[in-house]
Parts: sequence; C-alpha cells; structure tokens
Amino acid sequence: MYNYLMDEQTLRSGLAELPLPAIQYFDNLPSTNDLALAWADQGAPDFSLVAADSQSAGRGRLNRRWVTKGGAALAFSLVLRPSLRETDHLALFSPLAGLAVSLSLEKLFGLRPNIKWPNDVLLSRKKVAGILAEATWAGQSANAVILGIGINVAPSSVPPAHELLFPATSVEQETGHAVDRISLLRSVLEELLAWRPILGSAEFFQAWENRLAFRGEWVEARQSGNEPLQGQLVRIDRDGNLILRDNTGKEISITAGDLHLITVDDIHLRPVE
Ligand code: BTN
Repeated sequence: MYNYLMDEQTLRSGLAELPLPAIQYFDNLPSTNDLALAWADQGAPDFSLVAADSQSAGRGRLNRRWVTKGGAALAFSLVLRPSLRETDHLALFSPLAGLAVSLSLEKLFGLRPNIKWPNDVLLSRKKVAGILAEATWAGQSANAVILGIGINVAPSSVPPAHELLFPATSVEQETGHAVDRISLLRSVLEELLAWRPILGSAEFFQAWENRLAFRGEWVEARQSGNEPLQGQLVRIDRDGNLILRDNTGKEISITAGDLHLITVDDIHLRPVE
C-alpha cells in the first residue's frame, strides 16, 4: 500500500491551522512520552505536541512495551496543563483520547470503533490504538498530564501475533486503503480540542458509553497484586469506573485494571451471599 510521507515539514504544514503552541518532531525517539515529561518539567505550554516516526523504547500501560516502526504508525504525546476544573477529572483524560481516536476513525473512514475500557480503541474487536496517560505532580496537584497515543496505521505496525496480549489490527487493514497519517493526527487533535471543554459532562459519558466494547459479555478485570474480578460488563459510572455484574447479580466497580474477555469455562462461580 502506498505510504504517505511524514516528516517535520509535512507535519508542521499539516497541523498549521490548529492552535498548537509548540511542536517537536523526531524521526526516532526512545519514547514521545519520555520527551514530553522532560519538556513539561522545562515549562512546555498546554497542548504542546511531541511526535515521532518511530520509537525505540515506546512504553505501554502496566510497564508494557509499545513498538512503533518507522513509516507505519502514529506515535505522539501532548503536554496538558489541567485547569482547576479538569483536576477533578484527571482519570478521564485517557478515555478522552480513546474517544477522540474513535470519532476520527468514524468521521474520516466511516469505521465503527469501540472503546475497550478504559481506553484501548478496537476495530473488529482488535486493538488499533493504545493510550498512556501519565501525570507529574507538584505536591497534591497535577502539574502536567502527558497524553501519549499510539495508532497502528499500516499493517506493518502490528507486531506478530505471538507478541500480542490482545489481538491487534491497523487502520489500513480495516479501511482497505492507504491512510494519510498526518490527516488522521490532525483529526484526533481536533477532536481532543472539541471534547476537552466538556470532559466529565453527561454528553462526554454518553459518547464514551455508546462506544463501550463487550457490553453484556463476560470479562475478567486483572489488577496487579489483586484477585482478578469477573462479571458481565454493564456500564461505566460517572467517575469512569467500570461496572460488572458477577454471577450472584451483585454489581462490582473497577477503578483500574486490564480487561480480558473470558469464556463460560473460565467463570469462577461464587456462592450467593
Ligand atoms: C497501551 O496500550 O498499553 C498504551 C500504548 C501507548 C503508546 C503510546 S505511543 C506514543 C506514546 N509514547 C510512548 O512511549 N507510549 C505512548
């Protein structure tokens, strides 16, 4: 498939219309999140962007590795300076990014993405984008939130199946045609700018919930150091927690963790209390 060019000049001209205070672009970086964290410490203003064509030490959630091959993917991080209102909703920045990626895939390509709680973006039940949000703190208040987004664009961006914890796909595999990475990046940034002012609103939760993956299906939420929790996926609550219903009919609220689909054979039956 023909691959659209991405270099510093095409990136800057492609994003020229957007209110971005500063952009740093690299052909290769260890991790755009690491650079954005360092830049935030040096005073990068709100909505500064770091983008790289490839990453040699890309990081995923739960200390996992995230592979970004050159010419094939989008890997970028934003430095956000949360307003006083946003500090009440810090956990919602990563679903905000999941929503922005989903809306872009819908509007640009007519695809039907789902959001696997809390923020992975799925196409055809396979992961197409991952999000890593990290905060830096000044005492009790968040000084910056680094919102890192990785999108598999070309098929070559998808690691081999044996390296995957969850099945993955790419935007081009799902559309069947070549995709301009800069147009996709521009659209995601536009959606972030449009939805950020209503972070935590009823409209925000509705948009997230409408795209929630695996509703009604049996899932297991794995949290490091804790027993995995199993249940049927019901909804998200107003704090962004995931609500499951266990086999006794009791609702369980999950604040953090990694979601896995399970089969009937995996269900541990618990006695009704
Ligand atoms: C995940 O699904 O585990 C999250 C993956 C996040 C990857 C992105 S790529 C851009 C940014 N830089 C990183 O090192 N990670 C994030």
